[in-house]
Amino acid sequence: MTENNHRILIVDDEAGMREVLQIVLENAGYQVMAAAAVDAAIAFLEKESVDVVVTDLYMGKDRTAGLRLLAYVQENQPMTPAIMITAHGTVQSAVEAMRLGALDYLQKPFNSNEEILLRVRRAIEKRELTRENLALRLEQTRNLQIDSMVGNSASFRKVLTMVRQVASLPSTVAIYGESGVGKELVARALHSLSPRSEKPFVAINCGGIPETLLESELFGYKKGAFTGANQDKEGLFVVANGGTIFLDEIGEMPAVLQVKLLRVLDNSAITPVGGLSSVTVDVRVVSATNRDLAAMVEQGNFRKDLFYRLNVIPIHIPPLRERVDDIPLLARHFISKHAESMGCPAKPLSPEAENALLRNDWPGNVRELSNALERALGLSVHDRIELDDLPPHVREFQSTPASPPVISEDQGIDLESVVSELESKCIRQALEASHYSQQKAAKLLGLTPRSLRYRLDKYNIAAE
Ligand SMILES: Nc1ncnc2c1ncn2[C@@H]1O[C@H](COP(=O)(O)OP(=O)(O)OP(=O)(O)O)[C@@H](O)[C@H]1O
Ligand SMILES: [Mg+2]
Repeated sequence: MTENNHRILIVDDEAGMREVLQIVLENAGYQVMAAAAVDAAIAFLEKESVDVVVTDLYMGKDRTAGLRLLAYVQENQPMTPAIMITAHGTVQSAVEAMRLGALDYLQKPFNSNEEILLRVRRAIEKRELTRENLALRLEQTRNLQIDSMVGNSASFRKVLTMVRQVASLPSTVAIYGESGVGKELVARALHSLSPRSEKPFVAINCGGIPETLLESELFGYKKGAFTGANQDKEGLFVVANGGTIFLDEIGEMPAVLQVKLLRVLDNSAITPVGGLSSVTVDVRVVSATNRDLAAMVEQGNFRKDLFYRLNVIPIHIPPLRERVDDIPLLARHFISKHAESMGCPAKPLSPEAENALLRNDWPGNVRELSNALERALGLSVHDRIELDDLPPHVREFQSTPASPPVISEDQGIDLESVVSELESKCIRQALEASHYSQQKAAKLLGLTPRSLRYRLDKYNIAAE
């Protein structure tokens, strides 16, 4: 039987033992590598990976050789199972070996060749299983993250695609959008979908904190750096090492700190306040702002060099009023979310209430929509959420005639989605105005009933 090329590393100082193991395992179809000492084994493992390590405990006079190798494997390749073999088995070394992550423990001489083959086969099976579980868990958290971002409009789908594409890159990302559009949600998704997901995601708001405090938060300080610095403090860049730092409201960062941040981005090294030496860090920087950074650069309010460094991958999240198609989905999502936390059943929206949500301009974006629905659900006494349950300003919102979006040299639009959003808005209004008579709505829009029905289908508009 061939065991499909799994690689086994044998470590034993006795040539005879190495040979026996090599023959037995090679006959079973494994690829076998052998080392006579721990240092040689470690040097090998630094360059190559194997599927199982089989190691002796005592080597030469070194009574802890095998344990050192185990510790190395556990620290550097925790997914690789190790089997400890020894003629000098004591309960204590077995316990120690297990503590260091050995999967199995075997006494020399073996009863049969089958015994070692069985152990190796079992080790490989166990490792494959752990790998599969890990991959499955990772996949689940990924789906969870992407699933928590609700929206199906063309422009939101573009954001999602962008998030998926750039999550695995090390490049800095700058997220732009009005307050409450989901900038932090996107930043968290970028982290969870990245290879850094097991390491920390650290968020800090750069606005509203005094400059000196922000500096010591970001970069840390040394004991005695200033009055009150009674001990060293780690900066968030160090805390986030290996992971992601989210610099929220980056537009508010004071000029002095902009220079320091630029230095960190250029050198991947930070110097704590009052410190003499720097520490190297590996942190992905994701920033966010609701301000127009490019315009701030033009006006001399934000450093140009820092802007370029942060803006490697820009992600623009459009305001909710420009992606009306997302409103019904988001509304349903928030109703069930709030219902769950309030411990009450979720309710549907009446068509009038839904229309009011669609017509609103949502200056506070998704956050405002979520708050409005939380309130509505709490107040609602019927089995549907009615117009009256919505906050007065949402209920009574009067839209001004639509004006075309701004188009400039560096800011284009997606004409089709702008036009279809306007079109679906007009249709919803006509339906409401005609009390959901399709015949009358078609008349109000100058359409034939048939072409109205076509559009209702196209935009997935419910017309009771
Ligand atoms: N597409 C979405 N799907 C589900 N929930 C969303 C979505 N977008 C935003 N939210 C929710 O709306 C709220 C506001 O989002 P978030 O805090 O990410 O916005 P923000 O852009 O960082 O706002 P601010 O500029 O005020 O800091 C959060 O509770 C977030 O979970
Ligand atoms: Mg935010």
